[in-house]
Amino acid sequence: MAALSGTKTLLLRALRGFGCVVPRRQRVKTKWAATLPRIPATSLALHNFDVNYGLQFGDLWPSVRVAMLCEQKYGALINNFSDVPGLLSELRFKGARDFVQSGRSLGEGTGGAGRLPGEGLTPATGSTEEESMLPEMSPNIRCFVFPKGDIARFKPARPDSCGTLSYYLLDAASLLPVLALDVREGHTVLDLCAAPGGKTLALLQTHAISQLTVNDVSESRMNRVRRTLQSYLPREVWSGNRVAMTTIDGQLWGEMARSTFDRVLVDVPCTTDRHSVMEEENNIFKKMRTKERQKLPALQTQLLVAGMEATRPGGVVLYSTCTLSQLQNEMVVEQAMHVAQDERGVTVEVEDLGPLERHFESTFHFAPRQRLGLLVIPHLTANFGPTYLCKLRRVR
Ligand SMILES: C[S@@+](CC[C@H](N)C(=O)[O-])C[C@H]1O[C@@H](n2cnc3c(N)ncnc32)[C@H](O)[C@@H]1O
Repeated sequence: MAALSGTKTLLLRALRGFGCVVPRRQRVKTKWAATLPRIPATSLALHNFDVNYGLQFGDLWPSVRVAMLCEQKYGALINNFSDVPGLLSELRFKGARDFVQSGRSLGEGTGGAGRLPGEGLTPATGSTEEESMLPEMSPNIRCFVFPKGDIARFKPARPDSCGTLSYYLLDAASLLPVLALDVREGHTVLDLCAAPGGKTLALLQTHAISQLTVNDVSESRMNRVRRTLQSYLPREVWSGNRVAMTTIDGQLWGEMARSTFDRVLVDVPCTTDRHSVMEEENNIFKKMRTKERQKLPALQTQLLVAGMEATRPGGVVLYSTCTLSQLQNEMVVEQAMHVAQDERGVTVEVEDLGPLERHFESTFHFAPRQRLGLLVIPHLTANFGPTYLCKLRRVR
C-alpha cells in the first residue's frame, strides 16, 4: 500500500515537471503557519532595540546591550515586619551593604550607631546643601546589595517564626522611584499601577503613610499584590482602613480624585526591556501584541496626566518605567505636561534629581544627563535597571 502511494507521488511530481495540470484533489497544500519557523519575540525585541537604542545611546549601546543579556543583579529589601535573628549581620558578613541607609546623614557621623565598615558616606554626598536637596529617605527602607563588580546572589528569603518572609528580592534600581517620591509622616499616597507590588511593599515599609491606595487595572495582577502583602506584612497593616485596594483604570483617577493625594506613584506598563530580550512568555514584542505596544506611549501619557490631576497642589507625582526608550520616558513626560496644562489646567514642574544621582552613583550606573529625569542603565559591574524616573511637583 505504502509502495503504491509512493509511486503515485513520484508520478504526480513527474507530471508537474512536464507542466501537466495536477487534479485539484491531489494537490499538496503547503502548511505555512505550521512549518515556517517563527521569529522569537526576544529576537524582535533585540532588533528593535539595536535600531532605536543604537541611535539613542551611540557608543554606549553595546555595553548596555551586553549587560541586558547577562544575569541581572538583585537587591534584598529588608522586611521590617519580620524578625529573623542575625539577618543583617549575616548579609553584611557575606559582603552585602545597605545602599539606602549608607551615608544617609552627615549629622550621624561616619562611625555612627549601627554603621559598619563599607557603609560609610557616599563620597559624592559632600555638602550639607546637597544633602538638603535629597528626598527624606525613610530610615525604615533598607535594601542590601552586593558592591559594584560583585556578582554574588542572595538566597531565597527565610521566614521568621510566624512565617513572615525576611526580605523581598527586587531590582534595587526599582527602589529609586519610591525613594524619590519623598513620602513623609501622615502622607496620603496613590500607587496607580501597583502590581505585582514590589514598590507597594517598599512604601509600606516606611510606616509613614496615613492612607495608601493600591490600584491596578488587572484583577488577577492585584491578586498577586494581595499574595505578596500577605507573605510580608501582618494582616492589620494591609487589611485595615489605611490600605485600600482598587482595580480601576488608572486613566480615570484624575477625574475621580482630583487634587487629593500628597504623593502619586505612576509606574506605568512599558516594553519592560530586560524581560523582552530574555523571556518569550508574556513578551510584548510578540507579533500579536504589536498594536498594544504601539499604543503604550499614549496610555502612559494618559496615566501620567491622571496622576498629575490626582495630586494635590504642592504634592509630588513620580513617573517611572523599566525601559530605556526616550519615546516612553522623557517624551511621555513632556507630552503629559502639555496635556495636563492645556486640557486640565494642571501645572507641574520637573524637580532636579541630580542630588539623588550623585548620592547613589557608587551603587548604580546612570546614563549621561537626561533632558528630564534620571535613567539607570544596565552595566556589567552594576547590572541593575533599566529604570527611568522623573519627579514632578504640582504647582497649580
Ligand atoms: C510596570 S507594572 C507596575 C509594577 C509595580 N509598580 C511594582 O513595582 O511591582 C505596570 C502595571 O500597570 C498595570 N496597568 C496597565 N494598564 C493600566 C491602567 N490603565 N490602569 C492601571 N494600571 C494599569 C499593569 O496591569 C501592570 O501591573
